[in-house]
Amino acid sequence: MASFLPCTIFLISSQLPCYTNAQNINSGRVTLSQSLNAGDHKASSWLSPSGDFAFGFQQVDNDQDLFLLSIWFEKVPDKTVVWYADKNNPVPRGSKVTLTPDAGLLLSDPQGEQLWNSDPIVSQVDFAFMNDTGNIQLQNKNSENIWESFNHPTDTLLPTQTMEKGDSISSRLSGTNFSQGRFQLRLQPNGNLVLTSVNLPTEYTNENYYASATDNLTNPGKQLVFNESGNIVILRQNNQIVTLTEGKLVSSADYYYRATLNFDGVLTEYYHPKTSKGNGNKSWTALWSIPDDICINSFVYKSSGACGFNRICRLNSERRPVCECPRGFTLLDSSDEYRGCKPDFIQDCQPTETPAEKLYMFQEMTGVDWPTSDYEALQPYDEDECKDSCLNDCMCAVAIMRNDTCWKKKLPLSNGKVDNSVGAKAFIKIRKPNAETKTPESSSSSSSKNQDALVIGGSVLLGFSVFINFLLFGAMGMGFLFIYRKKSMKSSQQDKDVSRFNLRCFAFKELIDATGVSRKSLEGVLLALCTRGVEGHCTQIIHCDIKPQNILLDEFYNARISDFGLAKLLMMEQSQTNTAIRGTKGYVAPEWFRNMPITVKVDVYSFGELLLEIICCRRSVDVEMGAEEKAILAYWAYDCYREGTLDALVENDKEVMNDMKNMERFLMVAFWCIQEDPSLRPSMKKVMLMLEGIVQVSVPPSPFLFSSIA
Ligand SMILES: *[C@@H]1O[C@H](CO)[C@@H](O)[C@H](O)[C@H]1NC(C)=O
Ligand SMILES: *[C@@H]1O[C@H](CO)[C@@H](O)[C@H](O)[C@H]1NC(C)=O
Ligand SMILES: *[C@@H]1O[C@H](CO)[C@@H](O)[C@H](O)[C@H]1NC(C)=O
Ligand SMILES: *[C@@H]1O[C@H](CO)[C@@H](O)[C@H](O)[C@H]1NC(C)=O
Ligand SMILES: *[C@@H]1O[C@H](CO)[C@@H](O)[C@H](O)[C@H]1NC(C)=O
Ligand SMILES: *[C@@H]1O[C@H](CO)[C@@H](O)[C@H](O)[C@H]1NC(C)=O
Repeated sequence: MASFLPCTIFLISSQLPCYTNAQNINSGRVTLSQSLNAGDHKASSWLSPSGDFAFGFQQVDNDQDLFLLSIWFEKVPDKTVVWYADKNNPVPRGSKVTLTPDAGLLLSDPQGEQLWNSDPIVSQVDFAFMNDTGNIQLQNKNSENIWESFNHPTDTLLPTQTMEKGDSISSRLSGTNFSQGRFQLRLQPNGNLVLTSVNLPTEYTNENYYASATDNLTNPGKQLVFNESGNIVILRQNNQIVTLTEGKLVSSADYYYRATLNFDGVLTEYYHPKTSKGNGNKSWTALWSIPDDICINSFVYKSSGACGFNRICRLNSERRPVCECPRGFTLLDSSDEYRGCKPDFIQDCQPTETPAEKLYMFQEMTGVDWPTSDYEALQPYDEDECKDSCLNDCMCAVAIMRNDTCWKKKLPLSNGKVDNSVGAKAFIKIRKPNAETKTPESSSSSSSKNQDALVIGGSVLLGFSVFINFLLFGAMGMGFLFIYRKKSMKSSQQDKDVSRFNLRCFAFKELIDATGVSRKSLEGVLLALCTRGVEGHCTQIIHCDIKPQNILLDEFYNARISDFGLAKLLMMEQSQTNTAIRGTKGYVAPEWFRNMPITVKVDVYSFGELLLEIICCRRSVDVEMGAEEKAILAYWAYDCYREGTLDALVENDKEVMNDMKNMERFLMVAFWCIQEDPSLRPSMKKVMLMLEGIVQVSVPPSPFLFSSIA
């Protein structure tokens, strides 16, 4: 009876699951031979007394039904993992962890084979304690710690945790793959706290890309301390403090803190409100991070740099790196973007009759450089001489012009970065598509036409066509019908290559033939779009009226945007325009009402609304849904996202329910697209990369910051 009562109260007061057979309620204490089973809903974790942290199995891969033995923030909606046991392998359903006297925590697979244990255990374990600090401690009869997770950190540090000389933490491979990644934070024996990368699978350590400069011989650093208030400091030998944390701390009574070495090599300290009440951010907010600019500061000689080989690193507004392949290059391995990019063409030194200018062309990029891939410098040289030299040199992959010096670079290109401060201009040598050595005359002229077609329609059309391959999307006649189908996304994911950018203009007549529906005149607009080539000035277009009714499907379900009747043309140099309101209610961006300049971002906004409709299978505004919050899809969807009740959005759709991770990612992309502040909205290209899962989607801020409902 006595053991029943607190359990019931606990259930009512906090709505948390009640694990009668797993643990003395909320004591944090685990006795010998207690165990947890991966996938067992009744006994899958041990909670700390406050319930803030849980130790146990967290499902990390729905498709393969894999679980990670880990510690996480139990009350944070996404159950942020702060520690994990086996750095390399999540385990299958039915795996088991048991507290044993001799091996401590013992992880075994469903067949009983031992996978991991909490090494080293020097004396007999008497019990374990899941501390409210997030530390699981194994203690002996005298209540002395003999093993604790804080002494075996993975990629995250928590308040009250310390690092001694020689200690390190390592990044994970990606947001969802917990294998050991390339980056390390280490307190060196000389007292310096450094960030480095290692060349896996070896331990070869590259140059530091950050150092705290606390290796002063007379007074070196001795310990890193993450204190209870959230401050991260280095303690010197004489106890002098060097504070690393920047920015204003929030109260540790109301907020959780963590510092994580992210998979992209940036160490970030974050905070998160403890309760879901109030108006605080319901997600992790970055307080500060090091290094300042990983793209520029991290270059190393025997490795690829922050992004991987043949890549370009660009810093986003959260000071995290965004990695891109140069044009003509694609990812080597789409599941691991840090493996780098490969050229989509063969660059060879075989003798050929064909003049080089028939085979290769240059993609020009301002501010881009690969500082560690030079093999020759020519000076004084002008731009034309530089290009000519690279074109006729079969070793040359890229030429960089800086002042009057021409730097020739070879593959693989490493430490690629965007740095506008140095005034460099890159000429990337790429093979012309379909450039046949044998019959150069005929094919290269037709290929340069294809090249022109590639540019048609600017970012909007490009992004759409690709995206629509992902979501099988139907828009028919006056009404519309949406189908969200996981299978179609999967199959299309496989044909990721440049050929899918196979866009073309339709003559007005073709469109009528294809659809049988008469549309506003497209001809004038599209002719204008089709005129320019790769190195000349291009024309951008703002469609202004992206909505389901304006997206037509061809017989292969490829989406085509129609109805350019409201479109606005922009020259490339022009990035905004002032114009009277255009568009359709429910899809128009707020800047139309605010007397703000109109940019291509209005289409991104409309696309975001459209994406929400596709995900939720309903109209963006539907008064029949009742209360305002529900009638306006964007409000409702964001509420559900914030509250973690996504299933309400896709009620009864079993297929989607099984793939909530992707659904959440698509939603997050949509929220980025409908940001009130146009500058926060991503480009369509970025949207595409996020939808494909190539670029990580960060947690979107509330899209409604300016409006009353925020
Ligand atoms: C939990 O951790 C705190 C901070 O390190 C420590 O003071 C406390 O003794 C720990 N609790 C137990 C029961 O060991
Ligand atoms: C994580 O990445 C490693 C290395 O690429 C791979 O071998 C492993 O299968 C991945 N794990 C999961 C769960 O995807
Ligand atoms: C080392 O640190 C002490 C103070 O902690 C300072 O007085 C001294 O100048 C430093 N030495 C060097 C070489 O930086
Ligand atoms: C944490 O460190 C900061 C800076 O050294 C200090 O002001 C604060 O009092 C410390 N908090 C605790 C709880 O020790
Ligand atoms: C909430 O997040 C926004 C955007 O990330 C940030 O500007 C703001 O300062 C945050 N508010 C708090 C209380 O942390
Ligand atoms: C190179 O050009 C930059 C500006 O473009 C100038 O500041 C710098 O002095 C020049 N360097 C040399 C060596 O001419």
